[in-house]
Amino acid sequence: MKLEKDAGNSAEMPGGLSQDKASSFSSTGYSKTSPSTIEQILDLARWAPSGDNTQPWWFEIIDERHIVIHGYDTREGCVYDLDGHGSQISLGALLETMAIAASSYGFQMHAQRRVHFPQNPETSLIFDVHLIPGSRIQADPLVPYIKTRMVQRRPMNARELSPLEKAALESSIGERFRIIWLEGFAKRWQTASLMFSNAKLRLTMPEAYKVHREIIKWGDNKGEEGVPAKTLGLDPLTLRLMQWVMGSWQRVEFFNTYLAGTLAPRIQMDLIPGIACSAHFVILAEREPESIDDYTDAGRAVQRFWLTLTKLGLFMQPELTPLIFATYARNRVPFTKSKQKEREADKIETRVNQLIGADSSHAVFMGRIGAGPPPTVRSERLPLKALLLVREYHSSKY
Ligand SMILES: Cc1cc2nc3c(=O)[nH]c(=O)nc-3n(C[C@H](O)[C@H](O)[C@H](O)COP(=O)(O)O)c2cc1C
Repeated sequence: MKLEKDAGNSAEMPGGLSQDKASSFSSTGYSKTSPSTIEQILDLARWAPSGDNTQPWWFEIIDERHIVIHGYDTREGCVYDLDGHGSQISLGALLETMAIAASSYGFQMHAQRRVHFPQNPETSLIFDVHLIPGSRIQADPLVPYIKTRMVQRRPMNARELSPLEKAALESSIGERFRIIWLEGFAKRWQTASLMFSNAKLRLTMPEAYKVHREIIKWGDNKGEEGVPAKTLGLDPLTLRLMQWVMGSWQRVEFFNTYLAGTLAPRIQMDLIPGIACSAHFVILAEREPESIDDYTDAGRAVQRFWLTLTKLGLFMQPELTPLIFATYARNRVPFTKSKQKEREADKIETRVNQLIGADSSHAVFMGRIGAGPPPTVRSERLPLKALLLVREYHSSKY
């Protein structure tokens, strides 16, 4: 499900709720001119990362200590959001960001997912978030990095990670997760070539083309939602060519069949960056994740990891798609009309298993990490106002 968050398109909003309009929000007591503490916390939290920058959440402020997060997943229109897991990880990252932001205002955060909500299908995730004041609550040292954290898709400085950096990153994710580091030239090459093959699958699959067309923002579009093309890591010529080719699936097919159309993007976006990094990493849960809460917990750990590496002056690019295709293949979940693509996903699964080893089904996140320089372009976010919902009528559901 793709929710358009533009004002005026409220058709798919949660029942009984509409987007904040200047008049209604002030009726809850929050001033337009000086934002309340809760608004300031949400204003920071909206910088949490989400897959393809979909920001699959809305905020309903109940009172100055209680927020309801209306999350949703994008599995219906996005082949990468297998069973909603990507969105669930993103919602976990949002919760962690909110908790960190709340600490800077002297609050501890408590979040509870509504599990027995009768009209809550698996695709919409509702969380009650309560802020609990405490005189001894200290600002989390990760607060300053909430807004500076960003994805780096270009080649990075490949210096080795120091033992201190690795220790800080390993402790950032808590005891229920562990990291496998894929370091040294041989492992980086093995992972880069996996990413290179995986990208061929992605770039030649009509189901993925649909997603790329929707999320890539060309030209000077600042990408309040979605991904600005300039953050993809392509040179300007390839970028322009890709924009033209992606204008229709027929062009994509022609280019891929007769002109090796995926070669330049895969070299620039997967092979070179896959080598030009300090290491690849895989975050594994202590057991195979199954429930929504397993994935939101993983998202919380991922965000602490990402903010910690930002604090260390490092950069990161998630590499989730091989894990996603491997899971499709492992669980025999249909994801494409093409038998050929299914066979390619089977091969990706074999290579993921070789790379990660026995516990590959425990993997919740994967990426590459390295040193500067920082990205020159970044994804923006929807303004807070576009994410706020107000209740239009009292419903017995809540
Ligand atoms: C669950 C999840 C999966 C992601 N997967 C990928 C990925 O496979 N490749 C990639 O380049 N970025 C990936 N990203 C990064 C997002 O695209 C990025 O965080 C988002 O566009 C916002 O940009 P920012 O992190 O620079 O603020 C992922 C992020 C999340 C939270």
